[in-house]
Amino acid sequence: MAGIAGPAKYEAWYHTARGAWIGEMEFRLLMRLLRPAPGAMLLDVGSGTGYFSRRFAGAGLRVTGLDPDSGMTDYARSADPTLAYVEGDARDLPFPRHAFDYVTAITSLCFVDDPRRALSEMWRVGRRAVTLGLLNRDSLLFRQRQGRGCYRSARWDTVTAAHAWWQDLHPAPRVVMRSAVFFPGGGIGARCAEQLLPNVLPWGGFLAIALHKPSREEVRNER
Ligand SMILES: C[S@@+](CC[C@H](N)C(=O)[O-])C[C@H]1O[C@@H](n2cnc3c(N)ncnc32)[C@H](O)[C@@H]1O
Repeated sequence: MAGIAGPAKYEAWYHTARGAWIGEMEFRLLMRLLRPAPGAMLLDVGSGTGYFSRRFAGAGLRVTGLDPDSGMTDYARSADPTLAYVEGDARDLPFPRHAFDYVTAITSLCFVDDPRRALSEMWRVGRRAVTLGLLNRDSLLFRQRQGRGCYRSARWDTVTAAHAWWQDLHPAPRVVMRSAVFFPGGGIGARCAEQLLPNVLPWGGFLAIALHKPSREEVRNER
């Protein structure tokens, strides 16, 4: 895919000081939104080198990664052969309804031309919740990084644009949005500021959206 580094180079970024800090912020925010039970099954859509798949597995989840790029899935398998990786496309997930408890897509829908269809597929295969990690157009990160590095071919979304993606989902989700990585430099100032700014502010470079699926009983009670 144009704009994305090869797997080894992409993974190496997570081992730089800035990459490790950003990865940590993103992972913590997603875990806070999901609060998954240990042993729950999670599908990581657009799993890339498996960085987040391994983090979720380390937190006790049973993880399957999916990515259309065989270079990425090969790399992810070699980094942890105990995790399952399949090649596939977010727009046509090769799994039955409710095959997973949770489904996540972390900075991968920004490379998918039909995010609405991808989300509807994620909603179909997820039983409890779907989380999205998006690149936020209303952020300093966008001003600094758009058109540069890994994300030069990515789409940067706004909250308003993303809103349209889940309007037709059934049952209707309960949506929670948060953001992180407000000052993307990763230096000491950015780290201190990050502690002070609440994640409810919608201007972080990483936009995390959780869509919780109501239970059958909740749907019945709403009628
Ligand atoms: C920026 S990487 C993110 C990888 C990983 N989620 C992470 O955050 O480290 C974007 C990934 O999305 C994948 N991708 C691109 N188009 C996709 C599609 N149609 N369905 C699923 N994944 C896709 C790419 O192959 C790539 O591995």
